[in-house]
Amino acid sequence: MEQIRMAKQIVRPCVIAGNWKMNKTITEATRFIDEFLPLIEKSTTQIYLAVPFTSIQPVVEKVKGSSVIVGAQNMNDASEGAFTGEIAAIMIKEVGAQFVILGHSERRHIFGETNEFINRKVKRAYADGLQPIVCIGETREQHEAGQTQQVLTQQLKESLAGVNAAQMQKTIIAYEPVWAIGTGITPTPEQAQEVHAFCRQVVLDNWTDKTSLSVVLLYGGSVKPDNTKLFMEQTDIDGVLVGGASLSPISFAQIVNYQNATVKG
Ligand code: PGA
Repeated sequence: MEQIRMAKQIVRPCVIAGNWKMNKTITEATRFIDEFLPLIEKSTTQIYLAVPFTSIQPVVEKVKGSSVIVGAQNMNDASEGAFTGEIAAIMIKEVGAQFVILGHSERRHIFGETNEFINRKVKRAYADGLQPIVCIGETREQHEAGQTQQVLTQQLKESLAGVNAAQMQKTIIAYEPVWAIGTGITPTPEQAQEVHAFCRQVVLDNWTDKTSLSVVLLYGGSVKPDNTKLFMEQTDIDGVLVGGASLSPISFAQIVNYQNATVKG
């Protein structure tokens, strides 16, 4: 039986997602899967793995028959055309990707992606049959200036503009405070819960259809085996998005199997 969350008649799956970023050759990726699959055999969680484009097909082949879903970390908003170096949704879908991460903070801050561009990509993902994981999050400066709610509201409204309630139900939103990504610093689980509850309220306010509340909300930013359970225990956190700790099959499996973990500290 799949692990689920129930809140006010809304059923949501538990999702543990890994984002390898620009790491792992095909050889390294397939070796990871060989080591990882035996460690998560008993897991009932939905496992998402966002791998580099070159590894999508080989990893999809390797994970057949397991509970791992493979996706990409980015794509272009156009269906095809003269966009040197870009990749289209139908191309990653053809090699087996089922989802795509959009608007990751590294895309926003290193490559200058705007909410408006991310929104076009979200629409392209739906049109071409990919599930989007849309990332939002405030910078340290915005956090310290008390602008978190304002920033997240704008990111949610603009990145998801025009998305209907049915699409919203299939959308995953990852709240990743930029100051927590790759830093080893995290909000407390209670602070993260407060922000997730706020995001869920923004969804309800803007997508008045209550079914939009089945949107899955992930926490991301320095998730490790020893803090996963604390985040997963929060009512509005349905899963985690893991960068660095998803690169090792052992630590990612520990995160997937967080319910067996003894929490330190
Ligand atoms: P991190 O990255 O787990 O290494 O902090 C998270 C992310 O960028 O999605």
